[in-house]
Amino acid sequence: MDTLEAIRTRRAIRTYDPDHTISDAELRTMLSAARMAPSAFNIQHCRFVVVRDPALRRELRAVAWDQAHVTDASVLIVVCADRDAWKKNPARYFNGAPQDVQQMMAEKIQAYYEGREWVQQDETMRSSGLAAQTLMLAAADMGYQSCPMDGFDYEAVGRLINLPPNHVVAMFVVIGKGLAPALPRVGKLPDSEVILTDRFPSA
Ligand SMILES: Cc1cc2nc3c(=O)[nH]c(=O)nc-3n(C[C@H](O)[C@H](O)[C@H](O)COP(=O)(O)O)c2cc1C
Repeated sequence: MDTLEAIRTRRAIRTYDPDHTISDAELRTMLSAARMAPSAFNIQHCRFVVVRDPALRRELRAVAWDQAHVTDASVLIVVCADRDAWKKNPARYFNGAPQDVQQMMAEKIQAYYEGREWVQQDETMRSSGLAAQTLMLAAADMGYQSCPMDGFDYEAVGRLINLPPNHVVAMFVVIGKGLAPALPRVGKLPDSEVILTDRFPSA
């Protein structure tokens, strides 16, 4: 499958074969792909919580509007991110680069994030969105279906997965063998509304 085909065929699928198993090797491939997603300054905010415990899956489903795909998909990954990643020994994000480059980038990271709480927060969501989409495209390439989800109680999910302080839950991504094809695409807005040239029209 080429990249454009994976993008076009990825759909939000909600009915899964609960007996299908995704092997550890397949999961590793998908997660490795997700880890290739870009992040500002290579900070790699994302933390991927792979939920393997069936009892925990049931508890998560209970706080996610009882959506069946939380338990029935082969894999549930809670995509989280560390809001403080920027201040955790940032030179390591350039490990392997010359020492002076590591030092310079650590200083730039500090200057960019220090005191800018909204940027610290927004970056977690940018990184998580890119990682989640990369994960789903890898799954599509491997013949699997997926669904991004945020229909859940964030605080309850955080409690259930022991979310550390200053971390955020971005979304669930479920992956598995879909049992029903996607419904026809509906409601796509016209290009003229969503693609602009140069700037928004003045009010
Ligand atoms: C951030 C986010 C949260 C979503 N939450 C849910 C959800 O809780 N349950 C669900 O079934 N679908 C969820 N979806 C899937 C969307 O409904 C779906 O992507 C959208 O309707 C477009 O359909 P498509 O992905 O098949 O093109 C979510 C999608 C995104 C991006």
